[in-house]
Amino acid sequence: MGLTLTTEEKEMLDGKYGKATQKAMEIITTLGEIYGANRLIPITSVQIAGVSYDNLGEAGLEYLSEMAVDGHARVLTTLNPAGMDMLEWKKHGISEDFAANQERVVEAFEKMGVITTCTCTPYLIGNLPHFGEHIAWAESSAVCFANSVIGALTNREGGPSALAAALTGKTAEYGFHLEENRLAQVKYEIRAELKDTDDFGLLGKVIGTRTGKTIPYITNIEKATTEELKSFCASIATYGGVAIFHMEGITPNKTTIPDKTEVVTEEDLRAARVELDDEGADIDFISVGCPHASIKEIAEIAEMLDGKKVADGKTVWITTAKPTKDLAVKMGFYDKIENAGAFLVADACCAVAPLKGKFTGLMTDSAKACFYARGKNKFKTEIRTVEQCIKEAIA
Ligand code: F3S
Repeated sequence: MGLTLTTEEKEMLDGKYGKATQKAMEIITTLGEIYGANRLIPITSVQIAGVSYDNLGEAGLEYLSEMAVDGHARVLTTLNPAGMDMLEWKKHGISEDFAANQERVVEAFEKMGVITTCTCTPYLIGNLPHFGEHIAWAESSAVCFANSVIGALTNREGGPSALAAALTGKTAEYGFHLEENRLAQVKYEIRAELKDTDDFGLLGKVIGTRTGKTIPYITNIEKATTEELKSFCASIATYGGVAIFHMEGITPNKTTIPDKTEVVTEEDLRAARVELDDEGADIDFISVGCPHASIKEIAEIAEMLDGKKVADGKTVWITTAKPTKDLAVKMGFYDKIENAGAFLVADACCAVAPLKGKFTGLMTDSAKACFYARGKNKFKTEIRTVEQCIKEAIA
């Protein structure tokens, strides 16, 4: 049947709404044709990834600046973490040069009407779609959370295609926008106790590694907090490329239940933990807040750090969204964290900040952070609970 466009969509493609919108519509329609979509559909929310200058580089910034000449977001659009805290970058050791370039990136987005709070948990700070809503998000952990935990519908967009969706308010209808592509394919029965965010990260690693892009139906998990689910989403998306899962009694999407069943045991989780614990890791960097910490997590960490001091030779980052940091300031959590010598870092994270060469060993509660610390920054890693991470910091 091929891709059929409405009059407005054709006009966008013909350049009636300016060059950036035209370019954006070219991207959306090309993707639609590649993936066999019959039509475009309106979306209500966008999350753009690829914001750190460390990942974008000059070529990426040039592209953004071009789009910002006449491009404007038509729907609520937020950004993934940048390479630095946009206000307090100096005290985190970020160079003037990097800061200037990162500011240019964020300014280009701002010019396009994008909400320039930079976070991978947009659903915690006001970019929160409802069940059944079509959206276009790019950050893999947030995509997995939106599809699975919220029940919104999104493909795993790339940086340019998410921006294109923002500028047109449209996406092509294929992939996870179609109910038939969201059904579970393999059942995973969990025979292990999950107590904390690190355990959920390990579970994400085990299932993600086994399942690849196959959609899991997960049973036997009694309860999971939002924080544990965001940890799980980040991990399963990193180790397996999973964009949607079903968790019996916890996630809201309807699905058929697959016959094929796999079992995940305590031993599997233990093996995943051993795999993420590098021998001889000399921990000089502790980072919690991957995905970005909720106010609940920050409140707990502030209590743990209250009246304590971070040990010499250790750097501690608690990463979060700017609106959450503002709330932490208001509630006195920021002072408790920073007086202890730890940093409450907004807008950035340990994976996208320019940290290569600055540390040797990372301790974190996040399986995803371990992956990027090793791959991108060549740090050794250890995965522990948040409480153990903070204990290590003040030891
Ligand atoms: Fe978010 Fe950075 Fe982790 S983008 S999911 S905090 S690696």
